[in-house]
Amino acid sequence: MIVLITGCSSGFGLATAVAFAQRGDAVVATARDPARAAALQDAHMRFANLSIERLDVTDQGSINAAVAATVDRHQRIDVLVNNAGIGVLGALELVDEPTLRAVFDTNVFGAMAVTRGVLPHMREQKSGRVIFMNAIGGILTTAFLGAYCASKHALDCIAAVYDLELRPFGVRVSSVYPSAFHTAMGGNLSLVAGEGTAYAEPTRAYFEGLSQRIASGPTDLSPVVDAVVDAATSPDPPLRYPVASHLSEVLGPTLEALDALHRRELSMTPGISRPA
Ligand SMILES: NC(=O)c1ccc[n+]([C@@H]2O[C@H](COP(=O)([O-])OP(=O)(O)OC[C@H]3O[C@@H](n4cnc5c(N)ncnc54)[C@H](OP(=O)(O)O)[C@@H]3O)[C@@H](O)[C@H]2O)c1
Repeated sequence: MIVLITGCSSGFGLATAVAFAQRGDAVVATARDPARAAALQDAHMRFANLSIERLDVTDQGSINAAVAATVDRHQRIDVLVNNAGIGVLGALELVDEPTLRAVFDTNVFGAMAVTRGVLPHMREQKSGRVIFMNAIGGILTTAFLGAYCASKHALDCIAAVYDLELRPFGVRVSSVYPSAFHTAMGGNLSLVAGEGTAYAEPTRAYFEGLSQRIASGPTDLSPVVDAVVDAATSPDPPLRYPVASHLSEVLGPTLEALDALHRRELSMTPGISRPA
């Protein structure tokens, strides 16, 4: 398979790129600044089937160039993993519009722009898999992570609609919803501290708690990577892959209800001959 992945400088993106390379797939691992992505360069040295392209999901020119380079080299794209993402922590009232827009530009519009670049090739091939790295925050709503959760909720909706619209073209769509794992995300989270406001104290408490959860979270990223690989390879992948075992009891009924609603939509969507 030919696999294109965004945000491969660290964390889930890097681990996923390595996992596909180990399987023998041709991986185009992208990063917005490959020269600074030392671990990714190291993976490139280890795997001849892992190449690196520059791709900033907020830069349309870089998306066009990375997709064109992939198609030129491999003539097709079987799997797109929309992994790149950023987070912001702060009371929703205090997250200003430029910050909100920056989160949505990367997590939502960026992922949509990359997907838009790849879909014509997948529709022409009549096959493909699009996988979104979502978060448990794309299903739950969490205080002080409102901007991030809102972007991931939007991505949950977008993935479901793509799945409805793309099945007739042989393209399947899935999202993976991890809880806190130990990646670079903790250090990359921007903070709206709300100093001098009534939000300052609870924001600090939440930030410390979350930093602790991420720092003490699993360093073994394989449950998330395995879900992505399954979404890419299973003959009939589910729309949603939760990776949060401690929440399975409470999430189970919600996900079952969401699945039933999605199956209902599939059965009512023109162009889809048989329900999933
Ligand atoms: N870690 C968790 O607990 C957790 C839980 C749920 C969901 N997630 C999701 O998992 C995904 C990956 O995060 P991670 O945990 O692996 O954190 P990470 O190590 O910080 O990785 C985030 C990646 O996104 C890249 N990125 C950010 N903005 C970009 C842009 N404009 N264009 C291209 N790449 C960009 C970063 O590149 P740079 O190095 O250039 O910044 C980095 O490679 C994100 O979508 C995140 O929301 C993480």
